[in-house]
Amino acid sequence: MQDWREDYEKKLTTPFLAVKHIKSGDRVVLGLATGEPHSVVEAMMQNKDNYHDVEIVAMLSLGESPWLRPEMKGHFKFNCLFASPASRNAILSGDADFTTAFFFEIPDILRTELKPNVALIQVSPPDRHGYCSFGMSVDYTKEAAERADLVIAQVNSNMPRTMGDSFIHISKLDLICEIDTPLIGIPISPIKETEKKIGKNIADLVKDGDTLQLGIGGIPNAVLSCLTHKKDLGIHSEMISDGVVDLIESGVINNSKKSIHRYKSVVGFAMGSQKIYDFIDDNPSFEFRPIDYVNDPSIIMKNDNMVAINSCLQVDLLGQVVSDSMGLLQFSGVGGQLDFVRGARMSKGGRAIMAMPSTAAKGNVSRIVSIITEGSAVTTTRNDVDYVVTEFGVAKLKGKTLRHRAKELIKIAHPNFQDELKLEYKKRFGEEY
Ligand code: COA
Repeated sequence: MQDWREDYEKKLTTPFLAVKHIKSGDRVVLGLATGEPHSVVEAMMQNKDNYHDVEIVAMLSLGESPWLRPEMKGHFKFNCLFASPASRNAILSGDADFTTAFFFEIPDILRTELKPNVALIQVSPPDRHGYCSFGMSVDYTKEAAERADLVIAQVNSNMPRTMGDSFIHISKLDLICEIDTPLIGIPISPIKETEKKIGKNIADLVKDGDTLQLGIGGIPNAVLSCLTHKKDLGIHSEMISDGVVDLIESGVINNSKKSIHRYKSVVGFAMGSQKIYDFIDDNPSFEFRPIDYVNDPSIIMKNDNMVAINSCLQVDLLGQVVSDSMGLLQFSGVGGQLDFVRGARMSKGGRAIMAMPSTAAKGNVSRIVSIITEGSAVTTTRNDVDYVVTEFGVAKLKGKTLRHRAKELIKIAHPNFQDELKLEYKKRFGEEY
């Protein structure tokens, strides 16, 4: 038996015994999305009476965030890096904290301001050399595991083995729980009519040979479904989901024109259904890397013709984009939006596209507004914004005067709201729209 196997056997334990090593006051960083080891987390919840003030740090936690249950108060405090339906109200009421940061900076923050005592991660089983893959979640999960004093890993044979800078040797793991729970899948909703129209408008801005980043939300899959007639596309993206699979299989995405990592899709994490989990398993056409590489604007810009496609919630007539808050409600997080907007804007031939349906709340609210909702934070500044797309068309803002920006944006607002926006235009610029 080789040494690593003996080491592995010695480290094997149960979640219940593993979490006894966590101490009150520890900062516990959870792997992102499918990198979160739910069996270990649940054992930590059951052991709550033995802790007070354990700080949980997590981004994109899938599921209910059990540390926010009322009975967990005093035992756990939550430092959230990306709000979800499970955490929004807790942040608003002060029961949870929120740390805002560019995604590419989070590994650095884990090295400095938020150094973990404990990392809870989920990885694939070791290969014959003793290396486990971080699988779907390399992002900041790798840095957390490398920085923590104590690493507890759920080794799960359902975690795909991904290629790239995505491995950890079992000598770096402290405690190992072998549990083959199914990975949490993200249901892929059918594409809505409005999303399809937005997808078509964005597809018109995408050229053969472009390298794409696709953000989070309903629009990315709609965009991908409109790209079937394109050629030689590439992927350099913080995250990917099911939508890329068909385009890779049909050869539309082949990464052949990329300036760096030619023939590889470069990714920080993946989230979707079993379809993508099966597709990326052991697939050398993917290069999974930590997020301080994938999302670093100075790396992104090395791709010529880099196109960043992200979603937003609201845009004002100046072109200021709100993507992660609604008034004082922290709705999500900046994630990698700015990382990619800036990287794409600096790339030779690059473009940054912000997309949203023109209305919200069942058509009762315009997302193009004269002034952003009080309390909301601007996610992407007016100087960063290049294109804004709705189902009614494309507004090009880069290099435009305030007057011209407002005109472009009103043009793509929903017709039901155009009159009031035009009145605002007249008030602001002293002329009819
Ligand atoms: N006023 C009131 N309600 C609004 C609103 C507005 N301006 N904008 C959106 N809403 C409501 C919608 O009606 C919808 O409600 P419903 O669920 O009851 O229908 C809900 O908020 C979600 O809006 P939607 O546009 O469907 O969100 P999404 O799931 O497509 O996500 C973002 C969009 C912007 C939240 C998401 O992309 C995000 O968090 N972006 C920031 C991070 C990022 O871009 N990262 C980049 C790389 S991954």
